[in-house]
Amino acid sequence: MIKARHTVSLADCCMARIIAREIPVSQRQSHLPPIVPAGPLAVGLPRGPLLPAGRSHGANRPNAGAPGPGLASLPPERVATNGYNDGMISKQAIYLDHNATTPLDPRVADAMRQAAAESFANPASQHGPGRQARRTVERARQQIGQLLGADMGGGGADRLIFTSGATEANNLALRGLAGQPPGRLIISAIEHPSVVGTAENLHSLGFEISLLPVDGDGIVQVDALPARLTPDTRLVSVMLGNNETGALQPIERLAAHCAAAGVPLHTDAAQVAGKLPIDFRNLGATALTFTAHKFHGPRGVGGLLIRDGTTLAPILFGGFQQGGLRPGSEPVELVVGMCEGLKLWDEQSAERRWRIADLRDRFERQLRAAWPAAVVHAARALRLPHTSCISFPGLDRQALLMALDQAGVACSTGSACASGSSEPSRVLLAMGCERSIVDSALRFSLGVTTTAEEVDEAVRRILRVLNRLGDRGQPPNRSELPPLERSQTV
Ligand SMILES: Cc1ncc(COP(=O)(O)O)c(C=O)c1O
Repeated sequence: MIKARHTVSLADCCMARIIAREIPVSQRQSHLPPIVPAGPLAVGLPRGPLLPAGRSHGANRPNAGAPGPGLASLPPERVATNGYNDGMISKQAIYLDHNATTPLDPRVADAMRQAAAESFANPASQHGPGRQARRTVERARQQIGQLLGADMGGGGADRLIFTSGATEANNLALRGLAGQPPGRLIISAIEHPSVVGTAENLHSLGFEISLLPVDGDGIVQVDALPARLTPDTRLVSVMLGNNETGALQPIERLAAHCAAAGVPLHTDAAQVAGKLPIDFRNLGATALTFTAHKFHGPRGVGGLLIRDGTTLAPILFGGFQQGGLRPGSEPVELVVGMCEGLKLWDEQSAERRWRIADLRDRFERQLRAAWPAAVVHAARALRLPHTSCISFPGLDRQALLMALDQAGVACSTGSACASGSSEPSRVLLAMGCERSIVDSALRFSLGVTTTAEEVDEAVRRILRVLNRLGDRGQPPNRSELPPLERSQTV
């Protein structure tokens, strides 16, 4: 049971009132207009017609082009308190790095303050205040699980384990599902560093690692999986949406192969949860990772959903909390904040993703028109609505990033966990991009606070920097283009 969307106002943050407005999960699905199609690229929900990313479809969208309905819809005095829309950031920098992290929603902060005051005790304590904190934690667990499409009801149900974020959840999934060496793990060639690093560590402990290739659009090649599913395969891990290009992955089709072979499938949904609807059950994955700070929740909390009946070994020891699978006192206010962030997104999910996809398209259209040499990655794929990865051939991404920072555009050279390094993007290399394309790629990621004015101003600032640093160039010679761009220009 979850609360009814559309009927909850800002004042409804109080948990008791939310619970009083519960409606059955079965009624919830009908509220979700599609942004991803039925079939392999949906994230688990029954879907309507295909809506390719990059197409212009604003006319059919609710509030297309209108100011942001998210944090921006709050009264100014509330927005100013979130530390994002005031001071240096809003006046000087346009924040286009929401894939790295998102600003805390003030309503989430309110819910956390309330939880800290009312449920301050340790949820493991046996006295009344402890039991109150336990109830708060378990209510958040139920609601988060339901919002992500897990079966949270009674015995034999799915489990949700709270972690410190997606990095820990990925470590727990890979280590906990792999068990003891020897054995084989299969991961895709475009995974986040937290999956790659864990796999590398497991390799050093005696596991064999097999990489699933991607095509030029950054989509995992499903046909490559069956041959790799050897009898000693312990686990397959493929992310749901790529953090650099935004390309959504065919998890349902991969899950079908894994189920036939009796191999668990883990998916890192850190960039998808709170951005697109997820139905864990329909997705077919055994385990799913998510993290609160990507959807305007607090940093330092995330979770791993585990399918009913799955055997998982802990990676931390020394406590009985969360069934011994993740010992340590549960951070009550953080899980409440994560729950609130997900609920707020859920109430406005359709509006948010249409609007953000429109802004993303507007951004790419303007840049490509003014700078023909720009290459938009995964433009032909189904993409996360807020993610735009663009190469400016001939320019250096680090020099660009620094110049853009000075010009007041905050973006990134890739994964936040790898952007401090000078290593080229593994994701773009795996997609077959040549070095001049890889070395000039920047990631721009939009959020619920992004406005059309910000997008236009960001494009102006980017073009000023490009004009200063580089050669506007002609559209690249077709033979020099990566496969995606070549097919686009045909
Ligand atoms: C796909 C993906 N997985 C995992 C993470 C790590 O998340 P956290 O910062 O919560 O550990 C990130 C964050 O950048 C991500 O984008």
